[in-house]
Amino acid sequence: LGFGVATVEEGIELRRDGVRSPIFVMSGIQFFDKEMIRCLETCRLTPVISSLPVLKQLVAHLGELSSPMGVHLKFNTGMNRLGIEQDEWPQVLALLNSSPAIQVEGLMSHLAKGENAKAPITRKQVSLFRAVVAYFARNGLRPRWIHLHNSAGMAAKIFPEGNLHRVGLHLYGLGHPKLRPIARWTAPVFQTRRLKKGEGIGYGPYFKAKRSMKMAVLGVGYGDGYRRSFSNVACVLVRGVRCPIVGTVSMDLTAVDVSRVPVGVNPGDQAVLLGKDGKQEITAEELGRFARTIPYEILTGISPRVPRFFL
Ligand SMILES: Cc1ncc(COP(=O)(O)O)c(C=O)c1O
Repeated sequence: LGFGVATVEEGIELRRDGVRSPIFVMSGIQFFDKEMIRCLETCRLTPVISSLPVLKQLVAHLGELSSPMGVHLKFNTGMNRLGIEQDEWPQVLALLNSSPAIQVEGLMSHLAKGENAKAPITRKQVSLFRAVVAYFARNGLRPRWIHLHNSAGMAAKIFPEGNLHRVGLHLYGLGHPKLRPIARWTAPVFQTRRLKKGEGIGYGPYFKAKRSMKMAVLGVGYGDGYRRSFSNVACVLVRGVRCPIVGTVSMDLTAVDVSRVPVGVNPGDQAVLLGKDGKQEITAEELGRFARTIPYEILTGISPRVPRFFL
């Protein structure tokens, strides 16, 4: 169907890149004013309305719309972050009935534990979401899209009657045994050098060579989202060989031990930080463990200065 983004700025970026399909802005619109309305219209962005006050603001600015605005409504069913509450449904309905310039295209909610269909929180969320959909249908509002699933919810088939899935993690090929990771992140070798036993590398130095070794300095650091917590623990792949990080990851540079790479490593060679090289693979889960975080944070933490190529 289209793209889901968090913020208006992300939506604008997609339009600038030539995306023509629908784009919903899922959490970033928490107020409406003249400029916001103009921006949404110009860029054809569909807002998700996730509270009664925001819906009221939209209604108050309807006069500035040149054509009806499609929106999705988000309901709180137990996640307790964003969403319209059950006791607000009648007011929402009344506002919509008196505002023909708003076209509700979708009803949505978000799962707190999508991987577990049987968990009490999931059962509660599904039953409340069914009640929302039924309430609006009884009152004549049957939007085209009904959606509750994230990746985990889709895999666990939590809400089979939904007709749209807001897939995040699965798009990266993560979070399901039948999927293969698609993201690959590389960094160039800038220099190589030999170290004698006892010599240090980088700040501190927090690493000292226990034997004579060959090291390579890579053009990547925490300024790129390659986290400092990977220092002295994570590995990269050079010519398919796992090479440990030695010393601290610094802002723009990271050193690795390439002593085990049989053929010469030279400036310009690429090291794989994330992804496959030969039989070896570094996954976002593996990196996440070093940083005590989840793969989502590793992937979204790759900073904007790292060039992206979409194949
Ligand atoms: C409202 C909403 N829908 C869908 C998703 C996608 O979740 P996942 O990446 O687990 O598929 C998110 C993730 O942040 C979300 O906040």
